[in-house]
Amino acid sequence: MDGNGRWAVNRGLPRIEGHRRGVQNVRGIVECAGDLGIQYLTLYAFSVENWQRPDTEINALMNLLNRFLKSEISTLLKNQVCLKTIGRTDRLPEKVRHALHEVIDQTSHFSGQTLVLALNYGARDEAIDAVKNYTEAVQSGQANLDELDWSTFAGHLYTADLPDPDLIIRTSGETRLSNFLLLQSAYAEMFFTPILWPDFGPGEFREAVDFYWKRERRFGKTGDQVQRKTPTSEPVLNQ
Ligand code: FPP
Repeated sequence: MDGNGRWAVNRGLPRIEGHRRGVQNVRGIVECAGDLGIQYLTLYAFSVENWQRPDTEINALMNLLNRFLKSEISTLLKNQVCLKTIGRTDRLPEKVRHALHEVIDQTSHFSGQTLVLALNYGARDEAIDAVKNYTEAVQSGQANLDELDWSTFAGHLYTADLPDPDLIIRTSGETRLSNFLLLQSAYAEMFFTPILWPDFGPGEFREAVDFYWKRERRFGKTGDQVQRKTPTSEPVLNQ
């Protein structure tokens, strides 16, 4: 959700006004994702690197997040959206942790649409935490090093119960991942747009999804292999 600061500065407004507009934008995108049948939507709301920003901006972002959780809970309940988080959320301010706990608790039984907030998230920290976690499991006899492969390791990432992303969208013209889901995005399609996040509405989101549907996802295979829908060796049934 990049470009909030620039959106505000371009208008002679304080940066936090851009964040405020950015938050207002979230509801429309979540609803649009639901309309399109997208089951998992992850928003990169606060990275581990974002703690380096001025205290005033960090405090304002935490206040916005807190208010968002309090004001959106009714919409999430109405639309049956399950809220999850990834990241070191134990290091967020108490009031935010409390608000998160409330929403997560009340929406945990919904299975149709999941909104994931990446909060105090960093992919490198996630990898370190997973290694520590796995090592502890090996030491306590719950895991076996010989069985370590991608699937067992992925089970120790913050995203253990989430699918890999199919599409990553970054707004504001930057064309980097900035420590976001680095391992999980191995085969994700990338959509970069110059539009700043506060201006990135449902129409723009649909364009990104249309881009995704036009991609040929080969996962290391040849184009011929993935385009062939019916294996020639198998009989075609029900004709
Ligand atoms: C990037 O814009 C945006 C962020 C670092 C924060 C996004 C977080 C929120 C809008 C708050 C709460 C989130 C939710 C989901 C309710 P930037 O400040 O880096 O913009 P710039 O690159 O133009 O300076």
